[in-house]
Amino acid sequence: MSFSRRRFLGGLAGVVAVGVGAGGAARYWLGTPVDQAGVDYQLIAAPLDVELVAGHQTPAWAFGGSAPGQELRVRQGEWLRVRFINQLPVETTIHWHGIRLPLDMDGVPYVSQLPVKPGEYFDYRFRVPDAGSYWYHPHVASSEELGRGLVGPLIVEEREPTGFAHEAVLNLKNWHVDEEGAFLPFSIPREAARNGTLGRLSTINGVHRATINLPAGQIVRVRILNLDNTATYRLNFRGDAEMRLYALDGNPIEPRAFGKDYWMGPGMRVCLAVKMPPAGEEIAIRDGPVRLGTLRSVPAEAAATDWPPALPANPIAEPDLANAEKLNFNFEWVGEVSDTTEGKPPSLWQINGIAWDITDKTCADRPIAKLQLGKSYVLELKNMTQYQHPIHLHGMSFKVIASNRRKIVPYFTDTFLLGKNERAQVALVADNPGIWMFHCHVIDHMETGLMAAIEVA
Ligand code: C2O
Ligand code: CU
Ligand code: CU
Repeated sequence: MSFSRRRFLGGLAGVVAVGVGAGGAARYWLGTPVDQAGVDYQLIAAPLDVELVAGHQTPAWAFGGSAPGQELRVRQGEWLRVRFINQLPVETTIHWHGIRLPLDMDGVPYVSQLPVKPGEYFDYRFRVPDAGSYWYHPHVASSEELGRGLVGPLIVEEREPTGFAHEAVLNLKNWHVDEEGAFLPFSIPREAARNGTLGRLSTINGVHRATINLPAGQIVRVRILNLDNTATYRLNFRGDAEMRLYALDGNPIEPRAFGKDYWMGPGMRVCLAVKMPPAGEEIAIRDGPVRLGTLRSVPAEAAATDWPPALPANPIAEPDLANAEKLNFNFEWVGEVSDTTEGKPPSLWQINGIAWDITDKTCADRPIAKLQLGKSYVLELKNMTQYQHPIHLHGMSFKVIASNRRKIVPYFTDTFLLGKNERAQVALVADNPGIWMFHCHVIDHMETGLMAAIEVA
């Protein structure tokens, strides 16, 4: 396999990451501009000290001078062109979580590209087919790189106005830091063998117990993104406000009441509409009984608006269930915590009897399944463990159609939280050729075996 567009970058130290609007696009694009109406970003990953714990510095790693990373925005159907510059002391990549894109833009080391070394840059460019809330993160040394803050939101706006006049993006992340802001281990085998190694300090947009001011009386689109390594949030709210769910992960649903709580695994997103209460009132954003932050109503001038209609569906091919081939995927625990070799993560989990080895660059040469381009498949996902696993597929979205544990209103997604001992069916049209990673998004599950490659050809 040959890899392209990785270049050495000289003399750019100190360059500040800038988001460039449509007008300035060509200035930063050294290749042939594909579409002048696109949005360009020059995105730098670099160390950045952040104050997560008051009075203390945490040596984070940041995209575009912030951790979580700079918000990227692009309109559906347009090109996203990012010149990614690595000023970290380690090699890395960017993976665009949930975006259906060509394999060479997928950011998986040794599968879609070579890692970007310190001092190098890589041009990512692809068209975004679907509107919704997505995110980006490295796919190299993920426990540490994501753990140190290399996670950022990627918002794809609908082609036409949606009827929402206000919007807020809430990035959830728990940091692995102690009381003085020093990093704790990102992955401990004993924890990786269970729920994953949890961070201790919860944040919204990098702030512990953040308060987000929103206009009173208005209906606000609130996007909540779980950018955490391991935490599954039991998202719920306390306060006097009507809320409706408009999208799960990247895809719209028929709007419905938010309900009691929503289990949001790592990598998952929700899009809510919140009718903000009168000025001065607050809504607590909670994980189970724990307050993560607050939405506060502040006086607003604008007249109250009505609930927007459902968001337009994304152009995802409908699987042909009558003619779909069925494939089984069993997720198992095989923990041998004591059996660890120096410098190599233990092998704790497997899919269909095979544990992915993140230190072996050839794993993707042995895909766990080969799908025929254009054909429909039903993937039967069977969780044989006592832990939840947010199962994620690169390159294609899938439709969740059934579960033995709960009632499913079918919807398209890229990440499905497979509950303890749950058996679920998801369906897709194998319409994107490539080698696509299929893994649990609890990062230390992924790094200790719970990953595989699926080939579409
Ligand atoms: Cu967020 Cu391999 O993915
Ligand atoms: Cu992904
Ligand atoms: Cu898992």
